[in-house]
Amino acid sequence: MKKAIALVLVLVLALSLVACGAKAEEKEAVAGVCWYNFGDTFIANARSTLNNAAANGPVKVVDADSLNDVATQTSNMNNFYTQNVKYLVVNNINTNAIGEMIEQAKEKDVTLIFANTNSPTDEQFATYDKVYHVSSVATQSGTIMGEALVKYWNEHPEADRNGNGKLDYIMLLGIQGHYDTEVRASYSVQALTDAGIGTNCIMETICNYQRADAQNQVASILQSNMDDVEAVIACNDDMALGAIEALKAAGFFKGDDSFIPVVGVDATANGVEALKEGTMLCTALNNPVILGNSVYKLLTLLEEGKPLTQENVGIEGTTVEGHHIYINYVGITADNTEDAAY
Ligand code: GAL
Repeated sequence: MKKAIALVLVLVLALSLVACGAKAEEKEAVAGVCWYNFGDTFIANARSTLNNAAANGPVKVVDADSLNDVATQTSNMNNFYTQNVKYLVVNNINTNAIGEMIEQAKEKDVTLIFANTNSPTDEQFATYDKVYHVSSVATQSGTIMGEALVKYWNEHPEADRNGNGKLDYIMLLGIQGHYDTEVRASYSVQALTDAGIGTNCIMETICNYQRADAQNQVASILQSNMDDVEAVIACNDDMALGAIEALKAAGFFKGDDSFIPVVGVDATANGVEALKEGTMLCTALNNPVILGNSVYKLLTLLEEGKPLTQENVGIEGTTVEGHHIYINYVGITADNTEDAAY
């Protein structure tokens, strides 16, 4: 009996030593970052900002390209879990799987940061305390585009090219189901409606935030609908630039009476060039530098055990609310291109 008790005690001791060892073996301060597409202009800028910030910070960043493919994103995430990362930053395109992603992170005890994508719901946040969200306030970008069109329409009676009393527009969408694009589309049209301007959507089409897709789609609609197109609402600058190419090829932008208002989002370097050249009417600055720096600041605060507060983030143009860092948009036209990030 004494022997048995001694054995149990030895076992308990051994087990607690193993447990202590496991605790001591803390995860290294590494963040795995899944960007949806390295080739996307806005993402490329945010990515290089984040990587540069990490060069001098306490958390190492390793990243992976989801190649705009949900299965690739999942496999990249799983690789990061296998590598035992402490933080996972996901520019998520698997927008229906937010709940499952949180469950998985919880199981692996990894801090999960959703970046530049749909936010988890409050209920989802409540299931795990190590979930964060860093993103711009998409509603603002939609309103900025819509209000620019309201101003143009009110100042230019000739903008009603077919004389039907309504603004006939083409809507170019980003990735299917992506919050930014859904909200940009609805809020831009809402701003027109709120201003009492009737609208008619000639075509709404998914172009995955890609310039070439937008150029092809707009070129094809112009073949059949040349006389009705009165505006292009593009949910990012790359698509706006593709639309402008197609419009130019169809004979627009050749003189005062051949202007079509095209609005976009991001204020990329090429977008700003288009504003200066007089082809793009307006864009909403979506600041990739602020995005990259905000994500890194959050990682730093978490690593240092400091709370996420407005003061601790200390980056102009951001608003902290609970576990969210929101990034504000700024409207950019030919009159204030110096306010763009590039
Ligand atoms: C948007 C941005 C797009 C694209 C997308 C990817 O916020 O405006 O250009 O980068 O994010 O998530």
